[in-house]
Amino acid sequence: MKLLVIGSGGREHALAWHLSKLSGMQRIFVAPGNAGTAREAEVMNIHITEPEALADFAEKEGIHLTVVGPEAPLAAGVVNIFRARGLKIFGPTREAAQLESSKDFAKRFMVRHHIPTADFASFTDSAAAHAFVDKQGAPIVVKADGLAAGKGVVVAMTLDEAHNAIDDMLSGNKAGAGNQGARRVVIEEFLEGEEASFIVMVDGKNVLPLASSQDHKRIGDGDTGPNTGGMGAYSPAPVVTPAIHAKTMREIILPTVRGMAADGLPYTGFLYAGLMIGKDGSVKTVEFNCRMGDPETQPILMRLKSNLLTLLEHAVAGKLDQIDAEWDRRVALGVVLAAANYPNTPRLGDVVSGLPDENEDVHVFHAGTQTLDGKILTSGGRVLCVTALGDNVKQAQKHAYDALVGIHFDGMQYRHDIGHRATSR
Ligand code: AMP
Ligand code: GLY
Repeated sequence: MKLLVIGSGGREHALAWHLSKLSGMQRIFVAPGNAGTAREAEVMNIHITEPEALADFAEKEGIHLTVVGPEAPLAAGVVNIFRARGLKIFGPTREAAQLESSKDFAKRFMVRHHIPTADFASFTDSAAAHAFVDKQGAPIVVKADGLAAGKGVVVAMTLDEAHNAIDDMLSGNKAGAGNQGARRVVIEEFLEGEEASFIVMVDGKNVLPLASSQDHKRIGDGDTGPNTGGMGAYSPAPVVTPAIHAKTMREIILPTVRGMAADGLPYTGFLYAGLMIGKDGSVKTVEFNCRMGDPETQPILMRLKSNLLTLLEHAVAGKLDQIDAEWDRRVALGVVLAAANYPNTPRLGDVVSGLPDENEDVHVFHAGTQTLDGKILTSGGRVLCVTALGDNVKQAQKHAYDALVGIHFDGMQYRHDIGHRATSR
């Protein structure tokens, strides 16, 4: 049976790795993949935002099921195109993916369906945006309306920062600003609390929650410096207690799935709610993503004991109510190794050496890597995610950090405190 994973990051490496170790006769293809996915899958050089080319390949190769990793192909309509051609794919349609691709759409949706989130206003006129920020005061959050790989958000602690962010985003010189057409910013109330990633599978109607996790968005130790796509993650996240889990399902996930169906955009695919959990036990939605998280997927899939293909088959058949997921009780923790100058313009082409031996409990998932003349070179901002299992967070942390000591590439940066919120609880 042939399966296709679309994407080239650590998340897609983890998906391909999980699918390839299932017993059975799977042949896994990854488009376009990286140096790591080349170990467990066949890498196809097709760009993720060429949905017709991906569908041509799936048709020609007789792909049984396609799973989409990142948001860009979803926003480009890959699911619409595959479905129109009778090809099986797991992900949301372009219209449903607006939950991620347009912050403005997501905020209006949440208001309409009474889903808890930060108060907000959205602007295309910069004078009005500046005036609003002056009226509200800092801290305040300024977001570009459009996909920005987690980097189109400025959490402004001062009014100056907020004004600068508005200028950057409305004039379009920041990554992602306005790449959906209209240039718009969403300005939000600053939420306090602890963040967690709550990812579920949705089949249009039924929901299967995956294990909870927590990302580390800032580049620097102690959560300092600019936001990134994520510098490390672990699963489960202890902040997601059974009570918080139940509340999130009741107040956020189920109303979202029902709301999308009621609005005529039934949601299928992975749905990721970024949560802000207040000290008072309140849960608010910081954002939706229409995909699994990266790097959250790496620790989550290391803990998944169920057969992912079976889960995906149930999802595309609309039968997620008939299955549960089983998890390793241990903790998995992944540390991202990033290129020089990430998250700005990362330097590419540095030679990666000293990769450790892997075993059942330690995996090095590749992201921005490529093979050239037998060498592994950096080819993106986030290069590797060294992920390990342990009986508790401290042990998983120790195993992951022990595994990465020998790895080297010039300018390599990583955080030394992944898991700190769990260990300091
Ligand atoms: P987003 O792309 O919307 O997830 O934002 C990226 C990061 O910015 C989030 O993970 C939070 O750390 C932070 N953030 C976004 N919105 C808010 C908010 N309203 N209050 C506080 N922090 C926020
Ligand atoms: N790690 C955050 C994200 O995938 O959006």
